[in-house]
Amino acid sequence: MSYATQAAGLSGAEGCQDQVLLNDWHVVGYSSELENGKMMPITLLERDLIAWRDEAGEVHVWEDLCVHRGARLSRGWVQNNKVVCPYHGWRYDGTGSCVLMPAAPSEKPMKKAHAIVHHAQDKYGFIWVCIGTPAQGIPVFAEWDDPAYKLTHCGPYKFRSGYRALDNFVDPTHFSFVHPGVNGVGEEPDEIPPYEVHEDENGLRSSEVRVTQPYGDPRNIPVIAFYSYKIMRPLVSYLQKRLEIMDPAQQHLGNPADRFCTYFTAQQVDPVTSIVRICCGTNFETQPSDEDVRRRQDIVYAQDSGIVDTQRPEKIPVDLRYELHHRSDLIGQKYRNWLKAQGVTYGIHGAL
Ligand code: FES
Ligand SMILES: [Fe+2]
Repeated sequence: MSYATQAAGLSGAEGCQDQVLLNDWHVVGYSSELENGKMMPITLLERDLIAWRDEAGEVHVWEDLCVHRGARLSRGWVQNNKVVCPYHGWRYDGTGSCVLMPAAPSEKPMKKAHAIVHHAQDKYGFIWVCIGTPAQGIPVFAEWDDPAYKLTHCGPYKFRSGYRALDNFVDPTHFSFVHPGVNGVGEEPDEIPPYEVHEDENGLRSSEVRVTQPYGDPRNIPVIAFYSYKIMRPLVSYLQKRLEIMDPAQQHLGNPADRFCTYFTAQQVDPVTSIVRICCGTNFETQPSDEDVRRRQDIVYAQDSGIVDTQRPEKIPVDLRYELHHRSDLIGQKYRNWLKAQGVTYGIHGAL
């Protein structure tokens, strides 16, 4: 390990030590924001990284560090399919190898002149990175490959704790209070019937939770929504709403297959800063426009962060004694247990 690498805190002794998160995939951007030949800076788990896209469209994510003298590659640029360091102009190709040192253009750069390369993927319209060794694949988003669905990416939404944001995403009991007139009725909160949460190797999955949503449908028709949730990874979740049109006289306008779904991701920048990015899908007629979907999600997530970012402690506690848990919070309670059982510590209240 070079001095520059150590000095940048990459010796493994500093920063995030959480092996579950280090060996997991994290969304760090939208595919659409990274054009061919472009580079963008990223911070994930306090690590400064760059993402860049080569001429073939392949995405690369590297440490934001030139091993020569430790300059930041993010201050450089992409030229002729190579990253150029802004300090002495060393050029790195898509494999991370330095292929040119302008001070000695006829010399073959030494083997050690190599960018610190991470695992990167472009999937579901998101840029994903794993800064350790991937322990599993990216969680499946089945609707992505289903032509019946119209998909819209929304966000980014800033939250403090990504876990708190996810806990809110799977909470069906706050709609009337946080989103009155949007996806809940202020004066008429739904009574939440008992529901179940199952755990398997893919994470947690709830049975359906029934709520009334006079304003909750992008078609602007009152519906009964049956929410089911999945928590696939510590910071990746999913919801599916099965929709029934409330008015019997209008029910012929709907279809038993009508669904609204959301694939939810949170990038934990540091223990108390996160970026939520989502992709929404609908399979019914008339499909809302991208602008309509975004306008509604922007309102909902601003309402959510307005409350979630005030929660104390700001890091989620996984020790159940810190909060009260009612049966209607079952999925949030199971999430805390599951995070603890997985051994997640980074950004968790009370963890070292
Ligand atoms: S620090 Fe990057 S080329 Fe010198
Ligand atoms: Fe909400």
